[in-house]
Amino acid sequence: MYRNTYVEININNLQENVKNIKNYFNNYEYYFGVVKGNAYGHDIHIIDYLIKSGINYLAISSLEEALKVRKINKDIPILCLEPIDLEYLNICLENNITIVIHDYEYYKELIKKNIDKNLKVHLKIDSGMNRIGLKDKNHINEIYKELLNNDNIFLEGIFTHLATTGISDKYWDEQVSKFKYLIKDIDLNKIPIVHMARSIAFLDHPKIDICNGIRMGIAMYGYDPNPIERNDFKSKLKKIKAKIRIKKYNISPTVNKSPVELKPAFSLYSEIMQIKYVKKGEFVGYGAGYIAQEDIIIGTIPIGYDDGIFRKSKGRAVVINNKRYNLIGDIGMGMISVKIDDTVKLHDKVTLIGDGISLREVSAHNGTTIYESMCNIKNTVPRVFIKDNKTIKIQEY
Ligand SMILES: Cc1ncc(COP(=O)(O)O)c(C=O)c1O
Repeated sequence: MYRNTYVEININNLQENVKNIKNYFNNYEYYFGVVKGNAYGHDIHIIDYLIKSGINYLAISSLEEALKVRKINKDIPILCLEPIDLEYLNICLENNITIVIHDYEYYKELIKKNIDKNLKVHLKIDSGMNRIGLKDKNHINEIYKELLNNDNIFLEGIFTHLATTGISDKYWDEQVSKFKYLIKDIDLNKIPIVHMARSIAFLDHPKIDICNGIRMGIAMYGYDPNPIERNDFKSKLKKIKAKIRIKKYNISPTVNKSPVELKPAFSLYSEIMQIKYVKKGEFVGYGAGYIAQEDIIIGTIPIGYDDGIFRKSKGRAVVINNKRYNLIGDIGMGMISVKIDDTVKLHDKVTLIGDGISLREVSAHNGTTIYESMCNIKNTVPRVFIKDNKTIKIQEY
């Protein structure tokens, strides 16, 4: 690590999040850790710590990601949430990767293969997202019946992914009903894992009776996906409208706030690389885009859009010595400028995401989600794991 710009991952917080979620939602058997997107930007090596705190299945998006997990851990079951081309079936078998059957034709091709080892599969049901999954009841029943008698393909799970949050939302109830309807003829006692809920679903809703698994993503990383409670007129009006909707359509109740304490684990730091004294009327940055209205002091920070700082970040705050300062001028590929004062010294630490400047605030400024903000910080930035206030790993790419 030659540049003092890094993401810090607080392993204690991650582990506490998993433990708190498991303690509160203790009536499940399977706790999937969703670690796609390089563990939502936290780095895939966090899996060892997640497993130690109680995650007993991992979910990823692609075979590439699954193999990265397998390199780190030989035993943890891995579910690939997105379809894997059957050309690579042997790699899945060799590496004990659970695949998803998302489509009838795919299934037909799968059973033609000469599978000589036990292959674990989960049936993906499309309950209304219309992205991937089976939505023909006859197909689902046929696959279920055939797989029950297949010696090499083990139907280990059945699941769906809900398109909406379910907060005072009629469509959420419809999707739950649709999932139950589509799997009505299946004897769930014969399928070990039934899972539906991602973070917002298990945090905000009572347990869905048929499920014994939850898939933890954003909550595990320390974020309550519920919108922040506001008391302004617009929010009050929204609440009144939601109440009317709930009554009118008999919508199932929601919690609307995580009942579990969640602590973010992801911080982004850099430093002041140079201090510039800029006279009134002088310019800062590309295109002479910023003109000093008075004599000012500028700090230059070694991070930019090549590291995943959105160009929209212009004007947003960073924190230096517990004080907020604003970015000015254009966001460069590898450098940005902050307007500081004379209390800031060369090499002072700059918090771009962390205490005093939350990921939620940064995302709101950039008009994006906390999911995208985390995933967007690139592999140009090393991940530093901190546990019990000590650095335990520096992951460079
Ligand atoms: C199928 C599936 N399940 C679960 C999750 C986790 O979602 P969340 O981070 O909202 O918990 C994702 C994330 O995109 C997903 O695609």
